[in-house]
Amino acid sequence: MLIDNHGRKINYLRLAVTDRCNLRCFYCMPEDGLNWLARTELMTYEEMLRSCAVLVKMGIEKIRITGGEPFVRKDIMQLLTSLSNLDGLKELTLTTNGVLTVPYIGELKKLGVKSVNLSLDTLDANRFFAITRRDEFANVMDTLDGLLKHDIEVKINTVVMDGKNIDDIIPLVELTKNTPVSVRFIEEMPFNGDGHNYSGLQWDYVHILEKIRSRFPDIEKLIDSPNSTSYNYHIPGHRGSIGIIAAYSRTFCGTCNRIRITPQGQLKNCLYDDGVLNIRDIIRSGANDDQLQDQLLNAFSHRVKDGWEAEHNRFLKTGVHESMATIGG
Ligand code: 5AD
Ligand code: SF4
Repeated sequence: MLIDNHGRKINYLRLAVTDRCNLRCFYCMPEDGLNWLARTELMTYEEMLRSCAVLVKMGIEKIRITGGEPFVRKDIMQLLTSLSNLDGLKELTLTTNGVLTVPYIGELKKLGVKSVNLSLDTLDANRFFAITRRDEFANVMDTLDGLLKHDIEVKINTVVMDGKNIDDIIPLVELTKNTPVSVRFIEEMPFNGDGHNYSGLQWDYVHILEKIRSRFPDIEKLIDSPNSTSYNYHIPGHRGSIGIIAAYSRTFCGTCNRIRITPQGQLKNCLYDDGVLNIRDIIRSGANDDQLQDQLLNAFSHRVKDGWEAEHNRFLKTGVHESMATIGG
């Protein structure tokens, strides 16, 4: 078992496989995209697989593939297939925007992927275009249908943005009436790749809940699982559920069980830190698995207490605001 310097168990890795994306979500990147990483800067699948194998031996039980958009990277199913065969890995899952996902759903099911997070901020095609700057709403809805038909559990991730999708909160809650999905409303974070000035958090988790409760006064709190980042709720009679993720308010750091690896191999102990170790460079310098493990253990024994401390350290160092596409959500 992996335990950090604050006594927290680490068993969950989020692996971002690319910074590229086929959408341009307003809260994630500028309209022109980012300065995409060169291919040589990205970890190869071989390097990713080796890192994951070492981490699974050390105690990682769950891996989530993120991006950017995972299906934009060539042959991503190859990586997923190899990861699904790792001894000791209990859960393999992914986060996708659903634009290119449909043809892979059957294969995902065969690999044993039980749940998928789908990024979807609105149920309105025009607003979808306004937020993502791409006309792909129908494809995303096809992905939602396809996942449900294959009995893959779906969590919808909705970033709550003042002036953009507040009118979608109630329709998205209503979606849970007849559809067995969990809709999770996420506080907007300042990771937009400098696409616009982050104007401070307008809709925090309390505000979001009040808005839902004003329309659904009988909303009930569910018991949250120990490492849950969401506060979970249910509306009597609804097939699905609701979650609220205080991503900006950072109320969940005390039970943080997760680490991240960016597309260029930076290990992040916290969403808000600047990267604590470059795994790609360690591998490329010829280190063996024991040496890699030692460096990882050292990093896990210096984890920050919470996202506030990480953000503070990072601001002292760089002051740069990243895009979520280079962090992996
Ligand atoms: N704030 C909050 N969530 C974000 N995501 C991307 N950028 C932001 C942001 N600035 C979410 C996406 C996706 C997940 C990987 O991260 O909606 O679901
Ligand atoms: Fe792409 Fe996700 Fe960023 Fe939207 S939030 S631009 S879908 S990486």
